[in-house]
Amino acid sequence: MLAGKVITIGVTGGIAAYKAADLVSLLSKNGAEVHVVMTGSAREFIQPLTFETLSGRPVVTDLFNFSEPGRIPHIDLAARSQLLVVVPATANIIAKAACAIADDLLSTILLAATCPVLFCPAMNTNMYTNRGVQRNINLLKELGYLFVEPGFGRLACGALGQGRLADLDIIYEEIIKSLWYEKDLTGTKVMVTAGATREAIDPVRFITNRSSGKMGYALARAARDRGAEVILVSGISELKTPHGVKVLFVESARDMHAAVLSHFPEVDVVIKAAAVADYRPKITAEHKIKKSAGVLSLELERNPDILLELGQLKKKGQILVGFAAESRDLLRNAKEKIQKKNLDLLVANDITQPEAGFGVDTNIVKFVYPDKEAVELPKLDKLELAHRILDEIIKIR
Ligand code: C5P
Repeated sequence: MLAGKVITIGVTGGIAAYKAADLVSLLSKNGAEVHVVMTGSAREFIQPLTFETLSGRPVVTDLFNFSEPGRIPHIDLAARSQLLVVVPATANIIAKAACAIADDLLSTILLAATCPVLFCPAMNTNMYTNRGVQRNINLLKELGYLFVEPGFGRLACGALGQGRLADLDIIYEEIIKSLWYEKDLTGTKVMVTAGATREAIDPVRFITNRSSGKMGYALARAARDRGAEVILVSGISELKTPHGVKVLFVESARDMHAAVLSHFPEVDVVIKAAAVADYRPKITAEHKIKKSAGVLSLELERNPDILLELGQLKKKGQILVGFAAESRDLLRNAKEKIQKKNLDLLVANDITQPEAGFGVDTNIVKFVYPDKEAVELPKLDKLELAHRILDEIIKIR
């Protein structure tokens, strides 16, 4: 996911410094080239060796002690980094950056950097809410610096309030967002459907499928990160709802049908990644069905095909993307579906492959177009595939 990305992590002296180790590990595991710069007080909390082991690179700490003659670390790192993340960011480093003070390696790199800089503050609540600190944060925001707000909870000092370092998954998402892509979907309204539908048999039983919602949620996050206004119509999924996205929860295919159709006129793009049940029980029993001797038959009736209807209603300028999960005759079925449903792009995956389709974090798909040869993609992380799908949408537009 992060292969080819150069990220510098600046660690300052707060108790949350140990959490930066997990972040460095996560970024390295995802393929990023991670460099760590530590301030003197950060080294009171955690050893450079921890970061050296996790990043696989020497940690730079000293402004004047060059390990490689002829290379000036602060200029070199500042020039090579595609993102600088200060984690945890103390009140001190925030104040130095706000005043453009350069009295150690990290503060000097901050001034020399031209890439985006993301501060992840962590400090005592009273320090965080201090007017001077807030003034510095606001000043830096005005200058275009990025911030991940600290979370609420019990702090190391025993106080209860805002100030603890944001959760690592939030910081990771913000890193992806700040690193990635231009905001090339600004002004575009995108509706994504995700997850499985549930069709009730009686008050306690239902028919559903193995969809996890991972592909659709990744699409919603990717579209949001590229500046789109996103509506996520989510069926059943256990995933955390992405922030900055309007989420509409639905249960049955008919609920999803109602939600999608009511928003369709206002959106530019629809991506239907949900696994919608094609059939539902003809009758939903009012009371729990009792067991009895012999066979129980369930009569099923067709659900509306939402995508088919959207294809018929589609206005000029609207883009429709469908998914096709097939276990045989992938391309033939996909080509038929793209015509029948009047789609602009169909993302077809062979669900018999272990690293594709339901539940897993990766997907192996083909892009099928109405008017040209299908293209086969390599195995990709679902978030990366989401970006590739958005790239296609931008080309079609
Ligand atoms: O025809 P099939 O169900 O294989 O098509 C899959 C595509 O159609 C997916 O994009 C899915 O979200 C959508 N679909 C739908 N309504 C249904 C069934 C599928 O919108 N009832």
